[in-house]
Order: sequence, then C-alpha cells, then structure tokens
Amino acid sequence: MLPLPEVEAVLRPFAPTDASALAQHANDRSIWLNLRDRFPHPYAVADAEAYIAMATAADEHDLHLCIDVAGEAVGCISLLFKQDVSRRSAEIGYWLGREVWGRGIGTAAVRALAAHGFAHHDLARIYAVVFAYNAASGRVLEKAGFDFEARLRQAVTKDGQTVDGLLYAVVR
Ligand SMILES: CC(C)(COP(=O)(O)OP(=O)(O)OC[C@H]1O[C@@H](n2cnc3c(N)ncnc32)[C@H](O)[C@@H]1OP(=O)(O)O)[C@@H](O)C(=O)NCCC(=O)NCCS
Repeated sequence: MLPLPEVEAVLRPFAPTDASALAQHANDRSIWLNLRDRFPHPYAVADAEAYIAMATAADEHDLHLCIDVAGEAVGCISLLFKQDVSRRSAEIGYWLGREVWGRGIGTAAVRALAAHGFAHHDLARIYAVVFAYNAASGRVLEKAGFDFEARLRQAVTKDGQTVDGLLYAVVR
C-alpha cells in the first residue's frame, strides 16, 4: 500500500469488491478517449471484474494498483514492465473518475508509483505516451518530474482521428 497523504488517497491492490465502483467511474467516454482501445467503452461491471482478475492474478507480470479515496476505488494506475533490451523500462498508465479530477490525485499517484518503481525494481526509465490533445495528462507528468522527450508524429489513432503522441519520461 502506498499512501498519498497530501490528497487523502492511497494506492493499494485491487479486491473483487472494487468492481462496481470501478465500473461506475470507468464508464466515461472522456476517460476512454485518452486510453488505448483495449479499455472498454461502455464499461460494465463485468469489464471491471475481468480487469481485477487479471490485475490480481498470481502470474501477472505487471503492477496494477487501485487509486482509493475514502475506501472507494476511483481509478487505477499501472506500471507495465518492458522486455528484452527494454527490460529496464516501464510504461506508466493511469486514469481517474471525473468526479475526483483536479484535486492533485493524478499527480500524487504518478509521483508515488514512479518512486516505488525505482525503489523496488531495477528500472532505468519510466515513460508514458500522451495523446496530443490530453493537456491534463502532460501537466500531471511534468508536475511528477517527467520530462517531455519527443513528439511521435501521427503515432496514435483514436476515435477515428490520427494524432501525435507526446513521449514523457523520467530516468533513475
Ligand atoms: C489525466 C488525469 C489522470 C489527471 O488527474 P487529476 O487528478 O485531475 O490531475 P491533477 O489534479 O494532479 O493535475 C491536473 C493538471 O492538469 C491541468 N489541466 C487540467 N485540464 C487541463 C487542460 N484542458 N489543459 C491544460 N491543463 C489542464 C490542471 O490545471 C492541473 O495542473 P495545475 O496543478 O498546474 O493546475 C485525469 O484527467 C484522467 O483520468 N483523464 C482521463 C484518462 C487519462 O488521460 N489518462 C492518462 C493517459 S496518458
């Protein structure tokens, strides 16, 4: 469990009982618009159950944590560990329910999970690719200590449009 005391939230493992709250927060087109297409929309309780089962499976290689505010699952954050010559890199991904946007929770969560990643794994680099229209996420990464590294031209096709990806990273 990783406390985020400045925003009265914690990062913790998921439990099966999180499915209903998670689905309620996740079922939002403005979240889907900023994530990979494998994130469902609409997002049903069964989608949350399947995600939680994957996230908590004993053989799961990546780290998926629940963003918890007052005992409620309001979002999630993950570190996806890369392989082969990228084995000292991990990709960070996250989303939060719209109800809790703008309180600094996203920034606190990214900062805490990146610190945890460097402390507990042999990582040299943590990165994220933000869709060009997602200014809030770019700001979160900057506030959490990531640097803007590159504009990946026309790298992302989402919702029928192809846009640039903005690569942000922090190194050990
Ligand atoms: C991105 C997301 C996690 C941000 O979480 P959050 O808790 O609201 O973020 P914070 O409150 O820590 O910080 C948000 C920052 O973005 C800024 N911001 C918000 N909307 C903005 C916009 N449209 N343009 C520019 N800046 C914006 C805020 O002002 C704040 O910066 P500030 O502290 O300098 O004022 C949340 O909006 C979300 O879940 N979005 C959908 C999913 C997503 O985008 N995931 C990331 C994919 S890379």
